[in-house]
Amino acid sequence: MSDMSATVSSTTNGFHIEGYEKITYDFRFIDNIFDPKHHDLADCYHSWGRCLVVIDDNVYKMYGQALENYFTVHNIKCTVKVIQGGELRKTMKTKLEILDTFAEFGLVRKEPVLVIGGGVLTDVAGYACASYRRTSNFIRIPTTLIGLIDASVSIKVGLNHGKLKNRLGAYHAPLITFLDFSFLKTLSQGHIRNGFAELVKISTVAEKTVFDLLDKYGEELISTHFGYLDGASEEVRKAAKQINYIGIKKMLELEVPNLHEIMLDRVIAFGHTWSPTLELTPPIPLRHGHAINIDMAFSVTVAWKRGLITIEERDRILRLMSRVGLTLDHELFTIDLIWKATKSIMLTRDGHQRAAMPNPIGTCTFVNDLTYEELEQDLKEHKALVKNYPRAGAGVDAYIDQSDYMEIHDGDNMVLTKALNGELLVEAVSSTLSSSLGMNLKTIAAEKAYRSAIM
Ligand SMILES: NC(=O)c1ccc[n+]([C@@H]2O[C@H](COP(=O)([O-])OP(=O)(O)OC[C@H]3O[C@@H](n4cnc5c(N)ncnc54)[C@H](O)[C@@H]3O)[C@@H](O)[C@H]2O)c1
Ligand SMILES: [Zn+2]
Repeated sequence: MSDMSATVSSTTNGFHIEGYEKITYDFRFIDNIFDPKHHDLADCYHSWGRCLVVIDDNVYKMYGQALENYFTVHNIKCTVKVIQGGELRKTMKTKLEILDTFAEFGLVRKEPVLVIGGGVLTDVAGYACASYRRTSNFIRIPTTLIGLIDASVSIKVGLNHGKLKNRLGAYHAPLITFLDFSFLKTLSQGHIRNGFAELVKISTVAEKTVFDLLDKYGEELISTHFGYLDGASEEVRKAAKQINYIGIKKMLELEVPNLHEIMLDRVIAFGHTWSPTLELTPPIPLRHGHAINIDMAFSVTVAWKRGLITIEERDRILRLMSRVGLTLDHELFTIDLIWKATKSIMLTRDGHQRAAMPNPIGTCTFVNDLTYEELEQDLKEHKALVKNYPRAGAGVDAYIDQSDYMEIHDGDNMVLTKALNGELLVEAVSSTLSSSLGMNLKTIAAEKAYRSAIM
């Protein structure tokens, strides 16, 4: 919620306006939010007597009944709009579909839309709210780890434009964000790992206590879904709660004085220098967490080469990433891509590189003088180094959901059809899905070995 106080004064040939906008919004931790005994969510809608919910389709399948029952018990009429999720649907087309729903529903100016889903849905539906009648209220319930500890901590909303990641968007705070980590129970391990990368990010450059906890409990955090699966130890549950609480608090402390990103030296942009160009480059895009991890892993090598961290710290960070199945490198992460990405991010960062690097673990330095030659040399060393890691540095479940793709059989061949921006593009015709996914057999074998090792 925001409030503007401003003054107007006359100048010799016009007027000068000066104003400050007050922004207030809340985060509330609450497990099992749809348990009817909790009043928190219902209290936001009693005065309206109704609630328009925009929800991710997978979340709806799993929690739709509990959601509808919750509002029925609290005597609030609930209208649900289900939106198909996935990175490839983070598009203008999805935003327009959501906007049509607002109009059909007859959304009243200040009535908050309830947005429930992962980072994709909260970003795109949040952007729809930012632009409907120029600004509309919303309340957010993130349901993925990325959503809970990152996407919903910020007030940035937006969508992809073609292959340009988050190119359109706005800064738009919800009234309240309910943080219900019990959603992690049903989230796939691949997506838990994806979110883990954002925790590696914040901890490596800003919060050593969290880094130490991630390092201590890494595999267990992933396999127990941050302590939410039955049978998880009390110790890991406690560690997960600490990680989530401290991690979110640190993110807020870093971001809140700079909500509109006017200061461009942003600690939490660690891992986000080259990854925005890399993420959507492979035929099947990388998961966000893996894309930023490749960027962070390379940054760690650069930081070590520059003497910002020791070799022990470098190996500790890379080992943690590898142990939990995050990607350390990618064949498309080339010097050409890196240099193109450097130039591209400098446009966002006011002409400077502002590449965040650990110095040492838990603190951050910004680097502005990386040259093509230095990056090229460091990249060679990085690629040679990570070759010796398990799976030769490849990640586990590194690509976006196959649910973004439809499989169609054409005679003996499988045609992989990609739904991108609402258009159907025939991506590849092949006899096996795995080869059309560009995953070679070595990677699949390494994944299998990894899975059997952690099960
Ligand atoms: N706004 C920001 O500051 C910010 C920060 C970080 C990331 N992001 C954005 O977030 C997006 C990635 O978000 P994501 O990883 O949450 O992806 P996502 O929203 O696509 O969700 C991942 C998958 O999990 C499913 N899902 C969601 N909740 C579930 C649950 N509880 N149980 C089972 N399945 C569930 C979804 O249907 C989807 O298939 C990227 O587009 C990234 O740009 C934004
Ligand atoms: Zn990110």
